[in-house]
Amino acid sequence: MSLVPRFVPPAGTVLRGRDVLGWLGEAAVRGDARPDLAAIFRERYGLPHVFLVSSARAGMTVLLRVLAERAPGRREVAVPGYTCYSVAASAVRAGLRVRPLDISAETLDIAPAALDAAALSRSLALVGTNLYGIPSDAPRLEGAARTHGAAFIDDAAQCLDGRIGGRWVGTFGDAGLFSFDKGKNVTSIQGGVIACRDPGLADAIGRACAALPPQPPASVAAQGAKLLAYYVLLRPWLYWIANRMVRLGETPFELDSPMTGYPAALAPAVRRQMERIALITEARARNAARLGELLADVPGIRIPGRAGATAVFPRFPVVFDEPARRERVRDRLVLAGIGATGSYPRALRDVPELQPHLAPETADTPSARAVAAGILTLPTHGFVTDADLATISRVLRSA
Ligand SMILES: Cc1ncc(COP(=O)(O)O)c(C=O)c1O
Repeated sequence: MSLVPRFVPPAGTVLRGRDVLGWLGEAAVRGDARPDLAAIFRERYGLPHVFLVSSARAGMTVLLRVLAERAPGRREVAVPGYTCYSVAASAVRAGLRVRPLDISAETLDIAPAALDAAALSRSLALVGTNLYGIPSDAPRLEGAARTHGAAFIDDAAQCLDGRIGGRWVGTFGDAGLFSFDKGKNVTSIQGGVIACRDPGLADAIGRACAALPPQPPASVAAQGAKLLAYYVLLRPWLYWIANRMVRLGETPFELDSPMTGYPAALAPAVRRQMERIALITEARARNAARLGELLADVPGIRIPGRAGATAVFPRFPVVFDEPARRERVRDRLVLAGIGATGSYPRALRDVPELQPHLAPETADTPSARAVAAGILTLPTHGFVTDADLATISRVLRSA
């Protein structure tokens, strides 16, 4: 690979020029492209019922509201102690309390020891979040949820096309979720999918989705413009502009994000990326594997993962033993033009806005807290060059 920056995105890049041109052409001449997109998800992932909504956040809120109507005695949602704040915010929006469970630093999944009756016997649902595209142990989580009478939600927002035990992530449990938000392996800046097998649950989700308002045309146009800007700014040498515009890597705890239907006009962009999803996944996984090899012997860091599962790595996580070293490395990498970011800055249990909504007597989550303090995420996109990998390795060794 050359040291010259790439101007033409490699085949495995999210959102290539032909996706954007095809999307613009199709959005201009075609009517509703949503049904085909739903069909692609039904066929690829073998899920008979697929619903498109404005975001995975909206999808999680809809799903939890529907589940809560069916099990009114259960008012808690058990989630990994370190994960995207949107997961907890969606539960709060559904009128539920959140019970963060401690994680394992090796996998970033819920620690097996945390899956006990105290955690789950009052839970409406347990959510696995497949963080950074590393599959959660869905068979184990689903089994624990069933034992304690809770639903299991397989949230594949970060893990589209991942696999565990030979099965697609997002297809376990009662329902799965996918996201087309920015930074995901397939994107239209916004968008989410709820998918399930049970016809009764599907009827209820379908009714709830049909009751969502459509997205106002001005907002759809604004999202379309953002998608175009995102396509241009994906080039790493323009990353700082993208970062200013959409605050990449920041996750506020939001309780008021819009909940609407998914706009038909954005669907062709996702459909085109789904046609090359295997290539996109492969490119990310290849860069992640190279990072894993390069950094394997760096002292003072841990590289989370799960043997035997196929991870899809929208970002590559590294956890530092010393938070101060994480800060130094991040600053140096950013100065060197590498899009390194911390991630969610706190364990869920320590997020101030979540305090009033925590379930009673939530256990401490020390491992989640240590991961929050020490995590750094590295880019895996198609523009990452050999020179970038060498820089990452050098900075991690020197700082
Ligand atoms: C695990 C997880 N679930 C849900 C969401 C929410 O997705 P969206 O941005 O589409 O609302 C995210 C967002 O990144 C996420 O990481």
